[in-house]
Amino acid sequence: MQKITITGGHKIHGEIKASGAKNAVLPILAATIVGQGESHIKHVPHLHDVTTMNQLLAQMGASLTVDHHADITICTDNLQNQTAPYETVKTMRASILALGPLVARYGRAKVSLPGGCPIGARPVDLHIKGLQAMGANINVHDGYIHASCDRLQGNRIVMEKVTVTGTENILIAATLAKGETLIENAAIEPEVVDLAKYLKAMGAEIRGEGTSKIYIQGKDQLYGTTHEVMPDRIEIGTFLVAAAITGGSVTVRNSCNDDLDAVFGKLREAGAEIHTTDNSVTLSMHNKRPQPVDIRTAPHPAFPTDMQAQFCALNAIADGTSHITETLFENRFMHVEELNRMGANIHVEGNQAVIKGVEKLSGAPVTATDLRASASLVLAGLAAEGKTDVHDIHYIDRGYEAIEEKMNQLGAKIIRN
Ligand code: EPZ
Repeated sequence: MQKITITGGHKIHGEIKASGAKNAVLPILAATIVGQGESHIKHVPHLHDVTTMNQLLAQMGASLTVDHHADITICTDNLQNQTAPYETVKTMRASILALGPLVARYGRAKVSLPGGCPIGARPVDLHIKGLQAMGANINVHDGYIHASCDRLQGNRIVMEKVTVTGTENILIAATLAKGETLIENAAIEPEVVDLAKYLKAMGAEIRGEGTSKIYIQGKDQLYGTTHEVMPDRIEIGTFLVAAAITGGSVTVRNSCNDDLDAVFGKLREAGAEIHTTDNSVTLSMHNKRPQPVDIRTAPHPAFPTDMQAQFCALNAIADGTSHITETLFENRFMHVEELNRMGANIHVEGNQAVIKGVEKLSGAPVTATDLRASASLVLAGLAAEGKTDVHDIHYIDRGYEAIEEKMNQLGAKIIRN
């Protein structure tokens, strides 16, 4: 298993460009299934999860080329194999996003249940209920979701919980359903809005995206088109925390500032100075030790759960005590024990981490347990004294494009070995 070694004590300083958003490009690639003819997806991040989604679509029968920028040209007109196999789905839960599009365009799908994941049970019952409400015949056996329907019917669907990929699955399926669909209690994450932008460019009739009520007037046909993926707000937030935790400064170009209000607010509370232009953000920490900040994760526009682990690392060296409450996932504090191995003083009680800031962390061998946990360990390694080895680094490659190259460009000392 690969690891990366971080030599701590180097301030982050400089400028980088944000990559495309993982959690936008994955539903958009699944949505190519509902469009006839070629789509060109640009500003695609070079991530393991994108490669996995490309492989899934190709094994279904999509013709797909990836250029040297990782941008994708894809045609899904002849998908003879409407199956998402367990081997693929267990490595990437977002494969579930193929379910709605396959039923909508091809009338059938066989998609493996994703199974558990390190951060929680992560059921897909609301994806299934939404498609059943649109007339899909669904039964679950042998670990697979078997779905079929001659043509989905528009309906009013009230989501019992706010679910990002659940909203996305139903949104994509509804674009080819007969009649109108209303999704209530829909997720309003920016990645849902970017997906809707792509679908509308394909000819879909959608309104209300970005609010909790999304209206879709189904069409008989949609057509492939060109789309540029939005910037990755979680990558941007992660690099801002890298500058904050090392007392340095960073400018991120191609930033989606409007999607980061909650994160900017907490970084300012921690003592960072943040300036924004139309499409960039600059954070300066002026060598200061961060102040402790209390965090409570919740669906957008509240503080994003995908930034929770990064703020555990920042609070670990803060000048005081802080509380971080995780409300979305039942097991998203696995980075805590690893941070404590580096000298942090964090105690988890139920869904809350109580963090007593320490002056300094010490480098140590640690192990990544999930994507954002691995990012928090890298951040802690940047600030720690001595060397930190982060093992099982494949997790970080799922969601961060060339993280060590970008961090080293900013003055970090990271090697992969
Ligand atoms: C998306 O996951 C993101 N992944 C996650 O990012 C992100 O953490 C999460 O949204 C919350 O923002 C992608 O977009 C590919 P949910 P998703 O469905 O859609 C419950 C990362 O690090 N639920 O919004 O799977 C669920 O258990 C990843 O980039 C049901 O009960 O999350 C959870 O408690 C991690 N039944 C809550 O809803 C369902 O059918 C929110 O989950 C679906 C969800």
